[in-house]
Amino acid sequence: MPKSPYNIVFNRPSMAGNELEYITDAVSEAHISGDGLYSRRCQTTLQELLGVPKVLLTTSCTHALEMAALLLDIQAGDEVILPSFTFVSTANAFVLRGARPVFCDIRPDTLNIDETQIENLITPRTKALVPVHYAGVGCEMDSILSLANQYNLAVVEDNAHGLFGKYKGQFLGTFGSLATQSFHETKNITCGEGGAILINKASLIERAEIIREKGTNRSRFFRGEIDKYTWVDLGSSYLPSDILGAYLYAQLEHWQEIQARRKNIWETYDSALREWAAANHIQTPYIPEECEQAFHMYYLLLPDLNARTALIEHLKSRGIMGVFHYQPLHLSKIGQMFGGLPGDCPVSESASDRLLRLPFYNSLEPDQQELVTKALVEFHVA
Ligand SMILES: Cc1ncc(COP(=O)(O)O)c(C=O)c1O
Repeated sequence: MPKSPYNIVFNRPSMAGNELEYITDAVSEAHISGDGLYSRRCQTTLQELLGVPKVLLTTSCTHALEMAALLLDIQAGDEVILPSFTFVSTANAFVLRGARPVFCDIRPDTLNIDETQIENLITPRTKALVPVHYAGVGCEMDSILSLANQYNLAVVEDNAHGLFGKYKGQFLGTFGSLATQSFHETKNITCGEGGAILINKASLIERAEIIREKGTNRSRFFRGEIDKYTWVDLGSSYLPSDILGAYLYAQLEHWQEIQARRKNIWETYDSALREWAAANHIQTPYIPEECEQAFHMYYLLLPDLNARTALIEHLKSRGIMGVFHYQPLHLSKIGQMFGGLPGDCPVSESASDRLLRLPFYNSLEPDQQELVTKALVEFHVA
């Protein structure tokens, strides 16, 4: 394999403690399919920590979003409003059901959906709003929920980045009738590939269990509530193996240490870089007063694409990997098929060109982080 040019990569998953022990236990107990002991432990832990009526692990956040679209009975021709500056799955999950994604621009400060622009996009076909808590910083949920109430729309929070973040003292993921989490390798808490759907509206719980179990009432059968199970609804296979549940539970056991470690990394970047950033017209993350962030990411917004390209090269020359993020969805091939045009979401377009994410992972050592900050402050925007 060719030698990597990077000494400090962008992301590196790390174990928190009992991962291998719990996997061995799941294997020796001979329950490695879904909803075994460890998956159930993850689900109850998250329910208790977040105060959510029901949490179901899924194979990814993408699949949790697909479940949300099925649960909301999204049909051909329905419209779903979401930010253009997000991962493809936020849109794809609804497009798979035949919906039309309606792209909203983002706020220039938090890079979250611009709540002041949502109302203009609502039509009689709008069925749902899908805010994304970018970098684990809460969207303006008061405004979003009030619009949802006024127009009778469902809210699905894409909380892929935001586990344990809060808005006005309440956990992200507990505002919408549904919310989705990611446990992908890049996330604070991970099992490689994984996710969860948070069901805050109790009337959706039973159907969620069915959709996740191939459209059958197998969950009720396993609980002994019925004597055989059968096909009762649409569905697919959205539940992860308990091997992943075992890995994830070992991480969740240490969630407070993981969050404290990440807070430290985030704050170290912020204090080391603020002055340099201001002098170079580089924007650093803004955390509104009402938000407690999830410490998922530290990013910089360079003045323009050229400056970002130069900074990526500068970091690379020091063996450090800095990476950009989403391409605006309205300008993607599929986004354009839905009518997306340059200029529709100017803030998303600009952020996409200018954003750079810094190495950020639980085991990033202080001396490595110092190499990153030192390399950064030696860079000057031309
Ligand atoms: C906002 C957002 N939603 C959804 C996803 C998809 O997550 P997963 O990889 O768990 O499917 C991502 C990926 O990181 C994301 O950034």
